[in-house]
Amino acid sequence: MKILSIVGARPEFVQAALLSEAIRRQHTEILVHTGQHYDYMMNDVFFRDLELRAPDYNLDVGSGSHARQTGEIMIRSEEVLLREKPDWVIVRGDTNSTLGAALAATKLQIPVAHIEAGMRSFNRAMPEEINRVLADRLADLLFCATETAVRNLAQEGIVSGVHCVGDVMYDAALRFAPIAAAQSRVLEQLQLVPQKYLLVTAHRSANTDNRENLRRICSALDQLREPVIFPVHPRTRAALKEAQIETRPHIRLIEPVGYLDMLNLEKHARRILTDSGGVQREAYYLGVPCVTLRDETEWVETIDDGWNVLVGTDVNRIVNAVETFDPPTDKPSGRFGDGHASEKIIEILGRMGSK
Ligand code: UD1
Ligand code: UDP
Repeated sequence: MKILSIVGARPEFVQAALLSEAIRRQHTEILVHTGQHYDYMMNDVFFRDLELRAPDYNLDVGSGSHARQTGEIMIRSEEVLLREKPDWVIVRGDTNSTLGAALAATKLQIPVAHIEAGMRSFNRAMPEEINRVLADRLADLLFCATETAVRNLAQEGIVSGVHCVGDVMYDAALRFAPIAAAQSRVLEQLQLVPQKYLLVTAHRSANTDNRENLRRICSALDQLREPVIFPVHPRTRAALKEAQIETRPHIRLIEPVGYLDMLNLEKHARRILTDSGGVQREAYYLGVPCVTLRDETEWVETIDDGWNVLVGTDVNRIVNAVETFDPPTDKPSGRFGDGHASEKIIEILGRMGSK
């Protein structure tokens, strides 16, 4: 079969890595990069770290408003779809690349498989929630990371083509954490002592476009008494500059880091503070307590199991959680699959054949 795989934003490179490998063992993969992320540290470094093959096409859409970016992704991916005529299109997650490509494929009657289907925050103010809901409506095959996602889909009347396979990002964390431990020198480079620093990421529109929320997060970080490593997403960098937010010296605002360095920074942090979906799960996989700078999460198992806590952007709640939040000593296994999600996806796709 010919499978056309869409990537565009940082988490999608991680989600694509092992699946791409599994596809290529039995099928032909055409890897299409929409160009949504393009800076070296948001893009190229992931292809290097994940040993991901160079894309067959780069649509070069770049940044823009939601409509413009999604529209360009539709227009440019349609051209590739018409030329390549794949049997399946794979999209993942909840980005504008996901929705744009899913729309273009569906209208050409090319079947779509959605990886990480069924995740819901139930917050329509999140652009990602719109992308997920619509991608799930369009998809022929829906690969869920958790049983919660399967239930979410059932509540929307989507039961056909749904498979709970586990989280492809768990597969990636299992594969790459030992490689990161062997290869990454980031702790030495930043002169960090394991367990003696906090790691922060924030890039959600609710925390960047809303300057008050960004101010509150930074004001909470200012009050913490440990070194804070904060690899800053370009969107957040721009928001900090525009809002003229200055932070205290114990907060180290650094460029985004590559995947292997990130895994190592996560693994040795005393606590992680984040609004990222991927980082919340990686914290759980690596056994690091996570403080989530949001009011809700799609990854409710991490909360139920006591390894993640939602604090929104309330300064006292953030500070309090960092200082006092103590997770249990154990974690149930299998919540996010068994580390073989990619193989399961390919097995199911293979059984479906070309439609
Ligand atoms: C996107 C996804 C989000 C995902 C995130 C991962 C959507 C709607 N959002 O958000 O779900 O969590 O990626 O990181 O698709 N920029 C650069 N260089 C880059 C990329 C972006 O400078 O390489 C800047 C641009 O100013 C751009 C802004 O960051 O306007 C936002 O980028 P964009 O891809 O639109 O959204 P993200 O916030 O990255
Ligand atoms: N990540 C990284 N370097 C960074 C920040 C994040 O390698 O500086 C990785 C992180 O480990 C995870 C993925 O990028 O694998 C998550 O991407 P992001 O937080 O941008 O998006 P989300 O998961 O929220 O959609």
